[in-house]
Amino acid sequence: MFTRVNSMGIFGIDAYSVGIEVDSSGGFPGFDIVGLPDAAVKESRDRVRAAIKNSGFALPKGKITVNLAPADIKKEGSLYDLPLVIALLSVSGQIDADLSDSAFIGEISLDGNVRRVNGILSMTIIAAKSGIKNFYLPKENVREASVVNGINVYPVESVKALVEHLMDKVPIAPQKAPEIKPQKQNFYGDFSEVKGQYAAKKALEIAAAGGHNVLMIGPPGSGKSMLAKRLPSILPDMSFEEAIETTKIHSVAGFLSEDESLITHRPFRSPHHTVSAVALTGGGVIPKPGEISLASGGVLFLDELPEFSRSVIEALRAPLEDGKVTVSRAAGRVTYPCNFTLVAAMNPCPCGYYGHPHKECTCTQTAVTKYLDRISGPMLDRLDIHVEVPPVEFNELTAVANEETSESIRKRVEAARKIQQQRYKGTGISCNARLTPSMLDKYCVMTDAAKKTLEIAFSRLGLSARGYDRILKLARTIADLEAADMIDTKHITAAVSMRNLDRKYWSNR
Ligand SMILES: Nc1ncnc2c1ncn2[C@@H]1O[C@H](COP(=O)(O)OP(=O)(O)O)[C@@H](O)[C@H]1O
Ligand SMILES: [Mg+2]
Repeated sequence: MFTRVNSMGIFGIDAYSVGIEVDSSGGFPGFDIVGLPDAAVKESRDRVRAAIKNSGFALPKGKITVNLAPADIKKEGSLYDLPLVIALLSVSGQIDADLSDSAFIGEISLDGNVRRVNGILSMTIIAAKSGIKNFYLPKENVREASVVNGINVYPVESVKALVEHLMDKVPIAPQKAPEIKPQKQNFYGDFSEVKGQYAAKKALEIAAAGGHNVLMIGPPGSGKSMLAKRLPSILPDMSFEEAIETTKIHSVAGFLSEDESLITHRPFRSPHHTVSAVALTGGGVIPKPGEISLASGGVLFLDELPEFSRSVIEALRAPLEDGKVTVSRAAGRVTYPCNFTLVAAMNPCPCGYYGHPHKECTCTQTAVTKYLDRISGPMLDRLDIHVEVPPVEFNELTAVANEETSESIRKRVEAARKIQQQRYKGTGISCNARLTPSMLDKYCVMTDAAKKTLEIAFSRLGLSARGYDRILKLARTIADLEAADMIDTKHITAAVSMRNLDRKYWSNR
């Protein structure tokens, strides 16, 4: 007797079809799983055996051979417990139903209850694409699956309940598609709560408008963390495709809660400075997306940047340029997307008060230099915008001034983004931060006066070619925020002012 049951697997953040093939023949009793199973799949054999018995069924008699196809991809995890049980009950006639357009996924506990697995959203998308009509999956995962159209998704609590459904005894109702709620962008707070700090707010607006990375320097308590947390609230609303992409990553990482379906707010990730390179960029024995991928579509905030280990900071360089990260492991390489805006914050020195208007800095010059030198030149170069966040004055904090709301700032950001999308249609990029050097001439056209200003700044500040490119891109965004076609003097001046902090603090470079 032979049976094949459909299931799904995950590679990177995308899914592929897996077939669970079971052959049961007479002869000596045995239970083999082939098709490159890893240790978890072998353990699955024991769970499956117990679950079948404890659900009131019996393992087929004689020799059982299970093949997980395709055999050339290493399948990991315990997600094949459920399809395996269904295949075994089917091949032995304990389930009598046509399963050809159904797929199954889920880990099983010894008592036959079905437990959650990771990556369900991607699996449901591919299952629907490949013509599967009914997808049976753990109850805890069913909400994330229910956003996919064209497929019935069924919450499965236990083996017994599923068999009763398949045998038309006690039907399980398919999960209804959720209502996608209007996006709540001020998830992490609103800009109107931040008093003063107009330069920093403007810098973040420009960052949001052009997709630029930002470095904030200022003493403790000046509001750097507060400001960074509010950057997602001025980024454009997420499109459905972006929401799917971000949710897929969180789903594969196992970070979606039972009541979550689609992530519709832009993520804000703030890993501690003790984070390891693997936790930041992804990887591990069973590879998982790291913080930079979880931040995809949103903001990665690195607070106290100099406290991060140098190797961790350097591991960010390539992903920052590419928008994706590749992690190598024994069985091959996995690529995860990581499109995020980086916001880094730091104190100007170890004690935090270097250059403070009222407080004394207790650090030696050597200590300050050493502290600043933890950030390499190339890393500094990748942070397009540098802005000082001075301490807030008491009268600013107590003033009842009406600060601008995130929604109002976001309108300007969205307008500037729209201009960029039009301009870059068909070029493969969507924002100014991604302009390549060869595109600058075409897209960053300056007035004659602006050219002169940039020329003067270039020689006076001793800019590198890279620094020159960064200023042009930044000026492009500043001009877009004003809907100006050509880059003018004031745009150049504003851009230069956001690029000269490295000269104040890192003057020895
Ligand atoms: N500009 C500001 N407006 C309102 N509150 C502020 C401002 N700056 C700082 N605060 C208050 O001070 C606290 C500490 O700010 P925080 O963002 O953690 O500073 P930093 O990260 O620069 O050390 C905030 O939680 C907030 O209550
Ligand atoms: Mg802070």
